Amino acid sequence: MSENQSYTPDQVAIQPRNRQHDLADALTRDWMRNDVFATAWFNAMSITFPLGEQFFINSVRHYRDRITDPKLKEEMQQFFSQEAVHLREHKRYNQLLCEQRGYDLETLEGPLRRRMGWVKKNVPAREQLAGTAAVEHLTAVLAEKALGDHGLFTDADPAMVALWQWHAVEEMEHKAVAFDVYRAIGGSEKMRRAAMRRSTLLLTWDILHGVRHMLKCDGKLWSPKVWLSGLRFLFGKQGLLRGTWAPYKAFFREDFHPWQEDSSELIAQWQLQQQ
Ligand SMILES: [Fe+2]
Ligand SMILES: [Fe+2]
Repeated sequence: MSENQSYTPDQVAIQPRNRQHDLADALTRDWMRNDVFATAWFNAMSITFPLGEQFFINSVRHYRDRITDPKLKEEMQQFFSQEAVHLREHKRYNQLLCEQRGYDLETLEGPLRRRMGWVKKNVPAREQLAGTAAVEHLTAVLAEKALGDHGLFTDADPAMVALWQWHAVEEMEHKAVAFDVYRAIGGSEKMRRAAMRRSTLLLTWDILHGVRHMLKCDGKLWSPKVWLSGLRFLFGKQGLLRGTWAPYKAFFREDFHPWQEDSSELIAQWQLQQQ
């Protein structure tokens, strides 16, 4: 009998939903409640997804023959399918965004693409997987925020909210897959923590790089008003990062597992809204 390697709760189904989103109209505007900085921040996150999600798929797929638990094997397949659709939708999002607003996709994606190329050649596969497990946790923490904090998307464009919340739900469903594969192949705690420290810095850098380019093209890079509203958007009372420190830090605990934070209620609520 094969050993149990998946720790996603049995009642959680990882369901790929092949959705298509029409964002052409919304992306012409500051769709996040007319807020220049908040819109640029989300748009800059989107820029990192196509390359990032392909990297996640590859780093998990590398170990597919080492996994014996049929449940985890199945979850890996669902994870690949979900990330492949996210990747496709964000690619379209990013192309439209650049067309509509005059941003340069190569300037936005270039540094990340070059770094990924370097990592692929020079970083051991196990460490790449540790990086994926770390970024999947960052994504899951933000996904909880996107679904749990109903104030976050108030007055945002409904087509954009639908895309971000759909993505958030699927991130929550598969949040433990890369982590469980990493554990199954005997990845160390030390490497996992180091990967989180590195990934946090790099992802923040990547998003700020995107925000900078977008604000520059919009002629608002040096506007104190925009940066002040940015600080409020990130750290204010209703800020994006408010309440995320504790769940973020949990990753550094020795006995951490993503499902110690039970997301099933948020997933169920979203599913009900879809009916
Ligand atoms: Fe994703
Ligand atoms: Fe993911």
